[in-house]
Parts: sequence; C-alpha cells; structure tokens
Amino acid sequence: MNIQSILSNHAKEALFQLSQIDDWDPQIRVSTKPQFGQYQINGVMSIAKKTGKMPRELAEQLINKLENITKDMIENLEVAGPGFINITLKPEWLATKISEVISSPNLGVSPVIPETVVVDYSAPNVAKEMHVGHLRTTIIGDAVVRTLSFLGHNVIRANHIGDWGTQFGMLIAYLEKMQNEHATDMALTDLEAFYRDAKKTYDEDESFAIKARDYVVKLQSGDAYCLEMWQKLVKLTMAQNFLVYERLNVTLSENDTMGESLYNDMLLEIVTDLKNRGIAVESEGATVVYLDEYRNKNGDPMGVVIQKSGGGFLYTTTDIASAKYRVEKLKANRALYYVDSRQNQHLTQAWLIARMAGYVPDSVSLEHHQIGMMLGKDGKPFKTRSGGTIKLIDLLDEAKDRAKQLIQSKNSEMDEQELDRLSEIVGIGAVKYADLSKNRTTDYIFDWDHMLSFDGNTAPYMLYAFSRVNSIFKKAGISPQSIASSSIVLNAPEEISLALSLLQFEEVILTVAKEGTPHVMCTYLFELAGLFSKFYEACSILQAELDTIKNSRLLLAHLTAKTIQTGLETLGIKTVERM
Ligand code: ARG
Repeated sequence: MNIQSILSNHAKEALFQLSQIDDWDPQIRVSTKPQFGQYQINGVMSIAKKTGKMPRELAEQLINKLENITKDMIENLEVAGPGFINITLKPEWLATKISEVISSPNLGVSPVIPETVVVDYSAPNVAKEMHVGHLRTTIIGDAVVRTLSFLGHNVIRANHIGDWGTQFGMLIAYLEKMQNEHATDMALTDLEAFYRDAKKTYDEDESFAIKARDYVVKLQSGDAYCLEMWQKLVKLTMAQNFLVYERLNVTLSENDTMGESLYNDMLLEIVTDLKNRGIAVESEGATVVYLDEYRNKNGDPMGVVIQKSGGGFLYTTTDIASAKYRVEKLKANRALYYVDSRQNQHLTQAWLIARMAGYVPDSVSLEHHQIGMMLGKDGKPFKTRSGGTIKLIDLLDEAKDRAKQLIQSKNSEMDEQELDRLSEIVGIGAVKYADLSKNRTTDYIFDWDHMLSFDGNTAPYMLYAFSRVNSIFKKAGISPQSIASSSIVLNAPEEISLALSLLQFEEVILTVAKEGTPHVMCTYLFELAGLFSKFYEACSILQAELDTIKNSRLLLAHLTAKTIQTGLETLGIKTVERM
C-alpha cells in the first residue's frame, strides 16, 4: 500500500494524456502543512517547459485530467504557488485502504524486486573486547538488515572482523604461555586484560618477543600449530561477542563471520594483477596506486600503498579484495558498510582502486554509511570515570539495572521474575532505540536520563504507547479477530490523520531501505504514536454512540498496535504487553 506510488502513476498518466510525455517524475511528497493538503505534486515546474506551457497552466490542465482518473481517490486538488498541486484524499478511499491493509499480511507492503545486498557491520577485532564504538554499527547495521529482509531482499550479513595482522604472533605466543601456566583451556572473559598483558610481556621479555616474531612468520606461511592457536583466539573472542549479540537481539550468527583473513588468498593475486595492468607501480620497494582524487600539497596525486616493501599487505588491500569478493562471489547488487566515519578515506580509496580495476562495475553501489562517535554528556568520547573504554557488556548491565528502577517506580507490586524479564527488554530497547533514532552520521550523546524517559522519542515512550493500545482491547474484552470484518468509517479529523499515517508505513520502510537510515522509522513511529494519542483523546472508543463507530475505531487501534510492533521489529526492538 503505497499512496505515493499510486499518485505518481496517476500523475504520469495525466501528463501522458495531455502531452504524450512518458518519462516524468511527478515528485509526489507528503505535505508538510495541513493547508497544503495531504500530498503534493512538486514536479510540474520542471516539466512545464517541455510541454510548452506555463507551470500554473499545466498544473490546471493536469488537475482536470486527474479529476477524471482519480474520481474515487481524490477529494480535492488545487494549484498552489508557482505550480505545485496540493492533494487531499477522500476519507472513504482511505477507509477502504485501511481495511485492505488490516486483512493483508506484512501490513500490505507490496513485494519488491529482490536485490542481493551485503551489509558490512559490527566487525569487532579479535582478542579485543567489543567496546561502545562497535555498538552503533552493530545496532544500526542490524536494523537495516532486518528492514531489507522484511521487504524480501536477499541480505548477506558480513561481519568483517579484524582477525589478521602482525599482532597475532604475540597473541599466539601469549595464549601458549597462558595454557602452559594454567594447563587448562581458558575462556577469554577479559580480552582487554589478555591483550594488555600480552603486549607487556612482549615489551619486557626479549625471548618472548623473538618467539612472537617467529610465530607471525609461521602463521603467515600456514604453519598448522600457529593456525590452530590463531583459530582458538578467534573462537574465544567470538564466543564473547555472540553473548553480546544475543543480549542485543542482533541477528549475526557464526555463518556471517567474514573476517579480514578470508581474503588472504586473493591479496597477492590482486597486487600482481594491478601491477601487470599498470594501475599499481613500484615505489621505494613498496607497491603503490596513485589516485587523481587524492592530491598532496604540491598538487601531485597521492600514493596509496597496497603492499609494503617487506611484502606485507594492508587494510586497504583487504578492502579492495572484500569489495571484489562481494561482487564476484556473493553477486551483490549493493554493499552497505556501516563503519566509523573516520574510515571514510580508507574505504573511498579502496573502492576507487577496485572500480579502476573493473572489480566493481558501476551498476553495483558501494555505500559507506558513516557512523559518528558516541560521546558522553560532556561532549567528550564516552569513557569510564577513570578514562578507560567502556565494555559493552557492562553498559548493557547498567541499562538493565536502570530500566528495573524505572519499571519498579511505576509497578511496585510486580513479581521479581517478570520485573527481570521486562527490565532486560526495556533496558536493551532503550539503548538501541536511543542510537537508532538519531541520524547515524552525527556524533551522538549517550544520555541515560533521556533514553530511559517516558517523554519524547524514546523506547519507553514507544513501548508504553504500544501497551496502551493493547490494553484497550483487554479492557473491552474484545479480540481484534472478532471484529475483523467490520468496516472502517473515518469522520473526525483525528481519525483521518491517524488513518493516513497508518497507510504511510510502506513509504517509510522503503525510504529506510533505500537510504539505510533507521532513524526515519523511529521518527515515523513516534509521530504515529502521537497521532494515536490525539485520536484517543478526541474520539471515544468504547463509549462510541454506535457499534459501527466503536468497531471501526477499535480496528484503527488494532492496526496502530500492529504497525508499531512491526516497525519496532524491523528495528530489532522487542515489545512488552505492559509497562
Ligand atoms: N574491524 C574494523 C574496526 O574495528 C572495522 C571493519 C569495517 N569493515 C570493513 N570492511 N573495513 O575498526
């Protein structure tokens, strides 16, 4: 159910009837003010010249045509300003569409032409704790994955973990030392300490350092023992990360891990290929690609190193390979990278090279969805009181504790088990929603008080709104199924506004999918909940004069609940029956 596209088709048809033009984008937009109607056609000015008419004149003529084409759908059409057309829809038409949506699966969202979309997100590093910096990419990336899957796209999750590099010699040597000392298999519960101690031993113990350097060489040449130890490190780290994913209700599984090491076999081949084709050249022993897009102070193209003089490869080489792999092996139509904005230059350079080499054709889009930093209330990077990095798991525990206090303050009699269950959902939901509701590119201020408040665009507000709609049915002792065949009647302006908003779900989810911006869904759900409140205040439901009105209003409430729930599901946020 997509009003925008229905209107767009009608407008195109009208122009075609008038002037045989068939490649016009009428630019249908939701009106920003009630005096502009509900939708607007903004594309008249841009096509008028081609038809040889003045924009307002063309708009008048389009209106005449549209009046015939859209008899059942449109109540009022008027020209505004230089040639905009304002549209108001018929309440009866909206009512029929609401009934259709209620009875169709997936909120009546029409099937899409499925694309294969790779989403690169989360990407923690081996032998390091996931920290708050990984929180945003994990949460936002997963919401986009859910959104694209909901629409029917073929989504491939790529967890590009940092599982390769020279540090692994040191880490293997240290794991070996720990195993010898403890004689048991260990769980790496404190990865941060493990890494720190390994580094300290490396710096202080010369024989350890020699061994570590030896192990790097061995690992890179495929030595079985080193590979086994390396794999162990990956496993131990990911075991910790999967605990975090589970708590976060994030859909990443082991099959989605495609770390840097996956591309090892491709790197030499790529460098050789780029050299053979003159795209890369030797410079002081290293292999370099010069990019016109990046110039130094003197205006000369800047060199991007893809192989060091010692033969080692770089992060850039890996990302040239990952782009190639995603196109050639995974057959991606699109690849979205949810990665820290500070890595923009890195990704742009890798992709320029990949395109230059023809590994990625123009038809495939590579998109860096930049993630801004997470800041504390003081506007500085989010840290512990003593200045250390905050572990994700500690943050989630704190979220749960705070949610518990919040729920307890409203329901002092709730039993312990139920309280515990709700606190986890509300606490995690609050952290996730706070992140999702902001435009991902901006740095974002982490503020407990705001995210756990019932006021504003927050998880507690949305969850409360959802449970309130449900409680209407409970109070009435009516099930939505029992009134499913009742018709929808829209009279009050609050009913019409709510219905219109409910019918815009598809437009919103398509925008989220296209732009990769879940905050658009949050804004929509927040507005929808607000429209529901206004409707609820203005239109009595259970006390309605007539049964037809009562049932129609109940169905509007039912669809509101369903829409909020589905919207939150696409964001990866669980709902609760009561708050
Ligand atoms: N592991 C990296 C980090 O923690 C992020 C990887 C992002 N993805 C990529 N294809 N480079 O910073």
